Amino acid sequence: MAERTCDVVIIGAGLIGLATAWRLAVDNIQVTVCDPTPGSQTSSVAAGMLAPVTEVEYGEDDLLALNLAGVAAWPGFAEELEALTGQPAGLHRTGTLSVAYDVDDAAALHRLADYQRRLGLEVEELSGREARKREPLLAPGVTAGVWVPGDHSVDNRQAVATLLRAIELTGVQVVRQRVTRVLTTGTTAVGVELDDGSTIAAGHVIAAAGPWSAQIQGIPLELQVPVRPLKGEILRLRVPEAYRPALSHTVRATARGFAVYLVPRPGGELVVGATTSELGYDTRVLAGGVFALLRDARMILPITDELELVEAVAGLRPATPDNAPVLGPSGLDGLLWATGHYRNGVLLTPITAQVIAETVRTGVLPELAAPFLASRFAEVRVAP
Ligand code: GLY
Repeated sequence: MAERTCDVVIIGAGLIGLATAWRLAVDNIQVTVCDPTPGSQTSSVAAGMLAPVTEVEYGEDDLLALNLAGVAAWPGFAEELEALTGQPAGLHRTGTLSVAYDVDDAAALHRLADYQRRLGLEVEELSGREARKREPLLAPGVTAGVWVPGDHSVDNRQAVATLLRAIELTGVQVVRQRVTRVLTTGTTAVGVELDDGSTIAAGHVIAAAGPWSAQIQGIPLELQVPVRPLKGEILRLRVPEAYRPALSHTVRATARGFAVYLVPRPGGELVVGATTSELGYDTRVLAGGVFALLRDARMILPITDELELVEAVAGLRPATPDNAPVLGPSGLDGLLWATGHYRNGVLLTPITAQVIAETVRTGVLPELAAPFLASRFAEVRVAP
């Protein structure tokens, strides 16, 4: 017997779950979000880059289209959120400068710029000197750059705080418990069971549990999604008043073959990320991770040595075999996936919320999300 009922129950209150809850609630849909620690995991660890162009990978065209729609959706999403809450949504439209350290790094950057241009993306190649004109504190050793005006950033912690306020204002119920299991009747999801054994009945269940999505019980084996945790360590530094702004744009760099990014916040914080390690659910910050980030950051921005190290933290990206998210119908009636956002969770928050809310309202997944159905992994799942 269900102890609570609602129209939609959402598993996971990261940015994706929160934004989807809000989108549904503004349409007078009764929503409950379940999460033991809302907004505190990957969504608060991330650097918050909106980087569809600078993070483009060879051969991921469908994902690029979704990511571009993601960056385009952010300004309207932020405006709406700010109008409702009176709090900042965290969007900073700064553009991004990609830079290269040695000649090999420069060759790779040039090849990528070529590819970006062939895709019709807006990029401008720069010499090292031109890059330093945009960011005067870059190291003299920086040899080349690419200016990407359309890639921005979001203070993800501000976005989390503002979405938590938005769901409060729109009447979303928050249950601070872990969902252990999706409840089914025949081939239909009808609710969830929580850690304390109580249940919530709902017309729709949305699984937005990020790297924990593959751990949700009650979903038939052949319909589960191959989402795995991919660890990333990240640092938060503080720029002293005298040196501000150390950077005015997001800077992404390859330094002797190693990738690093530096994301400035208006208040003087500089976020440096991120390592990538296949270590399961390990969120320890390892000395080697901190070392590698600082080694690469100071090669590109020597003033890094003078900044206060405020925080070192590790989070788990929800990765999938093809680096793309899992969106929409699951094969179980009433259960929708909104997970597997890998490196693009902050970027894809508004567009995911829009797509999933529309699917709940109309029963039809918008065309843009069609390449990201869970059914594309059917062969992966049956492989020995
Ligand atoms: N999108 C940045 C990262 O995953 O590190």
